[in-house]
Amino acid sequence: MSDWRQLEEHRRELMAGGGQNRIERQHAAQKWTARERLDALFDPGSFVELDLFVTHRSTLFGMAEAKAPGDGVVTGYGAIGGRLVYAFAQDFTVLGGSLGEMHAGKIHKVQDLALKSGAPIVGIIDSGGARIQEGIDSLNGYGGIFLRNTLSSGVIPQISVIVGPAAGGAVYSPALTDFVLMSEGIGQMYITGPQVIESVTGEKVTHEELGGARTHARKSGNAHLTFANEADLFAGLKDLLSFLPSNNAAEPPRHEAAPPPEGFAERLRSVVPQDPNKPYDVRDVIRDLCDRGDFLEIMPEFAKNMVTGFGRIEGRAVAIVGNQPRVLAGCLDIDASDKLARFVRFADSFSIPLVTFVDTPGYLPGTKQEYGGIIRHGAKVLYAYAEASVAKVSVVLRKAYGGAYLAMCSRSLGADIVLAFPTAEVAVMGPDGAANIIFRRELESATDPVAERQRLVETYRAEFASPFVAAAHGYVDQVIDPGELRASVAHALWALKEKREDRHAKKHGNIPL
Ligand code: HXC
Repeated sequence: MSDWRQLEEHRRELMAGGGQNRIERQHAAQKWTARERLDALFDPGSFVELDLFVTHRSTLFGMAEAKAPGDGVVTGYGAIGGRLVYAFAQDFTVLGGSLGEMHAGKIHKVQDLALKSGAPIVGIIDSGGARIQEGIDSLNGYGGIFLRNTLSSGVIPQISVIVGPAAGGAVYSPALTDFVLMSEGIGQMYITGPQVIESVTGEKVTHEELGGARTHARKSGNAHLTFANEADLFAGLKDLLSFLPSNNAAEPPRHEAAPPPEGFAERLRSVVPQDPNKPYDVRDVIRDLCDRGDFLEIMPEFAKNMVTGFGRIEGRAVAIVGNQPRVLAGCLDIDASDKLARFVRFADSFSIPLVTFVDTPGYLPGTKQEYGGIIRHGAKVLYAYAEASVAKVSVVLRKAYGGAYLAMCSRSLGADIVLAFPTAEVAVMGPDGAANIIFRRELESATDPVAERQRLVETYRAEFASPFVAAAHGYVDQVIDPGELRASVAHALWALKEKREDRHAKKHGNIPL
């Protein structure tokens, strides 16, 4: 047989991974193989595999005889939407995708190449974790991944895809990356599995309840996006990448400018109710701002009182944040603060302009919040906005009271342009609470305290809780007709396009964690 035929044969054997039986088991578990995943991710024919011929060099515990094509991970680079992206995909058909010394070395190599080349990296996780037979060499391999995740943070986008087990310390690589995407029913992440939990605490829990996609999307906040199946996941991942630059010195891909959905101006005039106690969905405002109404919501099921996500205005990516009056009246709490601060920091790292919609009555009161550390969690939001030097545009829709007003990218925290709807109420606190305090004496001596209270609340509202006081003091730059929202935000972003804001040189700040 000629050399090239031998090479072809050798390649074919290795590319079959753990062999047909294991591939069938993988499919029976409703899972794709590593190569099927990479095929779904990359532009057709563009993926270039590296290190196909790498294998383990351990000998203990039967490893001398063990065959491990590619050492259980497929690595390489290719194009997604025409842009360079690096990837690794763990191959569960080979030793359960477990991570040994050489497997880790392959991942380190693509992490290094991605960082040097300024290209995003996608890690596809489907693994039994540290390869038990290789002991501390496996642990050392994980350490090298975590180190590279951290050094790459803020330089290139890093995305983790969980489509199988990710157990023990192995979950920390995804947690260190920018976005974690999970497929329902097959992706599971936990530090200690159900058996260990039961033996230590007596608690009984299934793998799925403990670490499935729904759990991480709703309860823990470890997953940013979840999908019903792998096909939807890889389509969603490409959509996410389309909003992100390749690195911190590049711009996100420019798309053709497109108008917002039809009838947006009329809708915007009625979406925010005059009644300050009436809920509405802030995403209706956000969609009417975005080109074609396309808004990719990030962490849609976690801390629903805060909305975060990406859209485009005139073809350029923007990071959009909004209090959600439909949930907890849009109050800030611990989870919402964490969600918001991390999102703001991501956007700032990659110079994606921030648009913030404000409608919050304040911080959620209660001992649960205070004992849980709302002070330090809430401080993350202040820190993240104040630290961000990217273009910052704020739009006050309705309530903007007290500390929560300041936190939601107020002028004093560094907002570049602040817009307000006529429904905006910028004040130190809500009119009801304020009237109780400053008009206490008048209320005590009133013959009809209910009517008097109503009158004084209205007086306070007219005097202070309008956008015009803040506008008169220059804290609000423009009070706009809601129908002008899109044009006003677009103009502000245009004016801030070349914004540069230097900070004092330092090693790094000390964000409250
Ligand atoms: C070596 C492993 C392995 C591992 C799985 N396999 N995990 N080999 N090291 N960590 C092998 C199995 O022996 C099996 O080989 C094949 O992969 C498929 O595994 P199955 O058990 O048949 O698959 P399944 O029933 O789907 O169960 C998957 C699983 C289970 C839930 C992941 O395999 C499991 O619990 N594995 C151990 C998980 C674990 O404790 N890992 C260490 C975590 S500690 P054969 O040849 O029999 O088919 C850790 C520390 C990291 O990771 C620290 C970083 C700081």
